[in-house]
Amino acid sequence: MRQLIAGNWKMNCLLQDAVALAQGIAAGADGIAADLLVCPTALHLAAVAQALQGGAVAVGGQDCHQEKQGAHTGDIAAPMLRDAGASWVILGHSERRQNHGETDELIREKTLAAVDAGLTPIVCVGETADQRQGGQETEVVGWQIAGSLPKPFTGAIAYEPIWAIGTGKTATEQDVAMMHAFIREELVRQFGDAGHAIRILYGGSVRAANAASLLAVPNVGGALIGGASLKADEFLAIARAAQPG
Ligand code: PGA
Repeated sequence: MRQLIAGNWKMNCLLQDAVALAQGIAAGADGIAADLLVCPTALHLAAVAQALQGGAVAVGGQDCHQEKQGAHTGDIAAPMLRDAGASWVILGHSERRQNHGETDELIREKTLAAVDAGLTPIVCVGETADQRQGGQETEVVGWQIAGSLPKPFTGAIAYEPIWAIGTGKTATEQDVAMMHAFIREELVRQFGDAGHAIRILYGGSVRAANAASLLAVPNVGGALIGGASLKADEFLAIARAAQPG
């Protein structure tokens, strides 16, 4: 399967910059042997989707509510993301787990809502620095996978060690190989053969300079990129480092 190179723009860019960034990425996307995705703030989704219409770059949301509609001030429903042009949605990012108290159970409900609305979810998992120091990384990620993914699961996983997000501290290739092999094993244990086909993205300080080595690690199905996805050239350089699928 082709690798997925996904940009998580988080709470960055004003509208004009977001559209320009999307156009810059689209302009350099020809011939890239990976699936490309950008996830702007929901407020810019429609404009970014319009700028990318008919091209190779897909658009996704960064979160959605677990219900289809209703009295949830300030929230965004999965069908609204779909309606605005999204085909993917990131769920359970550590910034949502930590800053918004999202639990595995809530993320599972959101994942169901996303799939129901026709979106492909990217469910994020990953341990804190303390958990890694305590040797609990596989236990924590195992619980997150068991709790956050509905059965059956159609989507991707992003392994993002929290200590590597936005810190410039990338996990070593050995760490990534070990964690991705563990996640693959868990997916196959839970979903049988279907678990082999689930893409497992790596995220956490991925940049052009380290992308080729990270993307070559077995069981790495792509990358989820924060900071380095905000520059078209850097994002495209990462995408060009993808392994042909
Ligand atoms: P980063 O963020 O690339 O800036 O470390 C990754 C993410 O949070 O998805």
